[in-house]
Amino acid sequence: MRGKFIVVEGLEGAGKSSVIGLIKETLQAAGKQVEQTREPGGTPMAEAIRDCVKHDWNENVAEETELLLMYAARVQLLTNRILPALDNGAWVVGDRHDLSSQAYQGGGRGVSAQTMRAISDIALNGFKPDLTIYLDVEPAVGLERARGRGELDRIEQAGLAFFERTRERYLELAGQDDSIKVVSAMQDMQSVHKAVLDEITLYLSSQNEATA
Ligand code: TMP
Repeated sequence: MRGKFIVVEGLEGAGKSSVIGLIKETLQAAGKQVEQTREPGGTPMAEAIRDCVKHDWNENVAEETELLLMYAARVQLLTNRILPALDNGAWVVGDRHDLSSQAYQGGGRGVSAQTMRAISDIALNGFKPDLTIYLDVEPAVGLERARGRGELDRIEQAGLAFFERTRERYLELAGQDDSIKVVSAMQDMQSVHKAVLDEITLYLSSQNEATA
């Protein structure tokens, strides 16, 4: 049976990594074969693109350049890893996917809806995650956590207003799509994990019912 694609999204400092660990453990305990991916990245070429987009270039990086690089990496990952894994029956847990581009480039950078739709259609051809967990954090809080982890990369150096716009777009899109579940990352870690576990358990039982 074809696997499912579950994605974790959120601003820097939202706590994606520990939530991804929890989801993987939960799926494995339910007998699923699990693969983990991250975006941009996840194949040798896509990892090189990740280094490139995060690098602090001493030149203006055009919005369209950033956007195209994100999608180039995504297509590599989708073609070489995500689709083959799903075809093999594995469940894929993704650290970011298309919603990141919609929020950061579409919301944060202000790339037009028309451009966003056009590139997404060309690159993804209608492919979308089965379930997305969006960890919602106030940008000031998230960035403070990210700062605590070390130096900020090129994207993380964008001002607070950029992250406010990004968060707003995440919430707007989550409100329009039932497959995107919003979990507040402003709570303590235990409460975040409980809320995520509830969503994953619910999803697993809906899948069991569908195949029963
Ligand atoms: P992270 O996965 O370690 O958080 O780093 C990825 C960075 O790239 C993060 O700042 C979000 C940004 N990003 C975009 O701007 N657009 C995208 O489509 C993706 C996947 C990531």
